[in-house]
Amino acid sequence: MKLSRKISGIAPSVTLAITAKAKQMKADGIDVVGFGAGEPNFDTPDNIKEAAIKAIKAGFTKYTPSGGIIELKQAVCEKLKRHNNLSYKPNEVLISCGGKHTLYNIMEALLEQGDEAILPSPYWVTYEEQIKMAGAKPVFVDTSRTDFKLTAESLKKAITKKTKLLILNSPSNPSGMIVERDELKRIAELAVKHDFVVVSDEVYESLVYDDKQQVSIASLGEEIKKRTITVNAVSKTYSMTGWRIGYCAGPADVIKGMDNLQSHSTSNPCSIAQKAALEALNGPQDFMKGWLKSFDERRRYMVERLNRIKGISCIMPEGAFYAFPDISGTGMRSMEFTERLLDEAKVAVVPGKDFGADGNVRLSYACSMENIKKGLDRIEKFCNPL
Ligand SMILES: Cc1ncc(COP(=O)(O)O)c(C=O)c1O
Repeated sequence: MKLSRKISGIAPSVTLAITAKAKQMKADGIDVVGFGAGEPNFDTPDNIKEAAIKAIKAGFTKYTPSGGIIELKQAVCEKLKRHNNLSYKPNEVLISCGGKHTLYNIMEALLEQGDEAILPSPYWVTYEEQIKMAGAKPVFVDTSRTDFKLTAESLKKAITKKTKLLILNSPSNPSGMIVERDELKRIAELAVKHDFVVVSDEVYESLVYDDKQQVSIASLGEEIKKRTITVNAVSKTYSMTGWRIGYCAGPADVIKGMDNLQSHSTSNPCSIAQKAALEALNGPQDFMKGWLKSFDERRRYMVERLNRIKGISCIMPEGAFYAFPDISGTGMRSMEFTERLLDEAKVAVVPGKDFGADGNVRLSYACSMENIKKGLDRIEKFCNPL
């Protein structure tokens, strides 16, 4: 059967291929250390699970409005006010089936053939594919010389008359780096001047270390707010990756367009998961401190160990749960490094090639300290054999 041009153009994910191979090795009884995880290794908090059980027992198991229940939209508005200093009304909010689905809706609602979407590189691989699926062209801006942080100066050079939107992801997957307030202001000025949209993906906002601060670009003034769609999800913050609830806030007309699309594709996000997300946003948030402390310890340990390995250098990530070391000193590119590391040392990492950075690999520290220690011992031996 002949696939459509749109679907046959989607690049198969190298990440998935490596992950599948590591899984198969584990299933075959091989002791593989996995650093591929894109999700916290903590359980969803009990109060959130209880809210879902209660929803099932109360029969909250039918269709809801396609764009989400009003209570959840209100909770999102309150959260954005409380946490991000952003004022939105429920008709400016859409609830979707995870952050990825939210982003998909945005790309479909805004982009068309001939448009350009600026993508700071390295980037999360899904952005590139979603931009292409919407018929637009990704325009990459290399951030490797500025500690993986987008600067207004480099952004300026990528802007053309065709620029429709910029994707901003801070803290970033894969680098963990954060774009600071002053730079965000300069980026916002460019967006206003050249009148393009900023899609601000803030799914890692709760995972920020040291004295760093995550700032929502839409909070920097009315003009930039009008041009921004702020994206978030309960996935990473509440360890709810399987529940599939994401959301965004932006101008009411775009939200309406996305709701129309959603109403003819997925319909509402799972009714039970919406009730769980409501509890996540409105319930106690104190568990987060403990999670953050664990992530921070693992981050420091992993980066310090990586930097002791000859051929590897790693910048200290400021947020999220990924380290993104430069492995070019080993003489290998990311695919060779990843494949050989898996075959010879039984450690699974993700090649940077998928993220637009072939000299790097991504390691997630969303796993136990024991695993991290074991994996790093193996990487050390692999890179610096006696
Ligand atoms: C940068 C970024 N945005 C969005 C998502 C999507 O999260 P989900 O669809 O699980 O809510 C991810 C997941 O890995 C991510 O890394």
